Amino acid sequence: MNIQTQIQLKPFNTLSLDATASHYCKVQSTAELVDALNYAKQQQLNVLILSGGSNMLLPEKIHALVMHMDIQGIEDIAEDDDSKTIRVGAGQVWHDFVLWTTENHLYGLQNLALIPGLVGASPVQNIGAYGVEVGEFIESVQVYDRQLEQFSTILAQDCHFSYRYSIFKDDPNRFVITHVTFKLLKQAHLMLNYGDLKQAVGEDQTAENLQKQVIQIRQSKLPDPKEYPNVGSFFKNPIISEQLFDHLAQTFPQLPHYPQAKGGVKIAAGWLIDQSGWKGKKLGMVGMFHKQALVLVNYDQADLADVQATYQAVQHDVQQKFDILLEPEPVLFDETGLIRSHME
Ligand code: EPU
Repeated sequence: MNIQTQIQLKPFNTLSLDATASHYCKVQSTAELVDALNYAKQQQLNVLILSGGSNMLLPEKIHALVMHMDIQGIEDIAEDDDSKTIRVGAGQVWHDFVLWTTENHLYGLQNLALIPGLVGASPVQNIGAYGVEVGEFIESVQVYDRQLEQFSTILAQDCHFSYRYSIFKDDPNRFVITHVTFKLLKQAHLMLNYGDLKQAVGEDQTAENLQKQVIQIRQSKLPDPKEYPNVGSFFKNPIISEQLFDHLAQTFPQLPHYPQAKGGVKIAAGWLIDQSGWKGKKLGMVGMFHKQALVLVNYDQADLADVQATYQAVQHDVQQKFDILLEPEPVLFDETGLIRSHME
């Protein structure tokens, strides 16, 4: 294990924020993970788990041990007539893994192609797109439990997956995800219910074509972080009560909405932001993307304060117009490496 000091994290977070870690190491195995945690304990440092850096907001100086997860590997675990179970290292790149499943005739994850980040982060916020959430294909998550100081396996049903949520969000300092075990289908069962995906896929109803269309749709709307640093959707789509929705729909009949199976109505934050005049609008170096108002972009050398000024201005304007407070999606860290609430 090689601990480095004063490391610039700008290349490791997709919003390209200037952030220097007092301590940093790469973690390539479960043994290295234990060593790194012991080191942090001895040095009385908090631990910040860095994965793909595509859903985090970092301050300029971080006094903590940043553990950059890099556990690789894809392993067959079990197989039956319908499915194959595979265990994947937390450090595998998510999109490459999705491509690998399709090449290997394993189905389920094609709608989730091109989502940035690493496999280990996928269960945390239960990544989802185009009608599929990753939790539907996870069998279990392998973790190191820092509270009990042991490795353990958490079954999918105990992860309590729902929209952009899992138990890992509630207790972010307790578990370090080392591997994710997926149960994938051997026969393609295409999920084409979202928006105009069915139309895009057309006659060629294969998983390969579905994956290709998802990639094309994402590329046409969402900015490439290398060109326009961003963290994907910056706000969650709010889920509001039917009552509040009926009230809003009287004034805004065009509001895109999706009734939820468990009650409530999900509404499109991108539309609310767009209607509030923020699509393509900037405040200083930070603005909302001109093709998708839900994505915040760092257009220059913005720091966390610049990002906060812009997203708070967006929240303010949306609240004035619609009386809805948008909740940011990325995780906000403080200068000691701990997760902080956006509401403070
Ligand atoms: N809309 C506008 N203006 C905009 C953006 C969106 O009017 O500037 C409208 C669209 O016309 C559409 C609705 O809002 O009627 C929803 O837009 P879209 O289908 O593009 O999806 P989204 O709600 O903006 C969500 C996810 C994305 C995911 C897509 C596809 C969240 C927070 N975001 O976006 O996830 O790729 O659906 O499933 O749930 C991410 O989390 O980083 C992410 C990109």
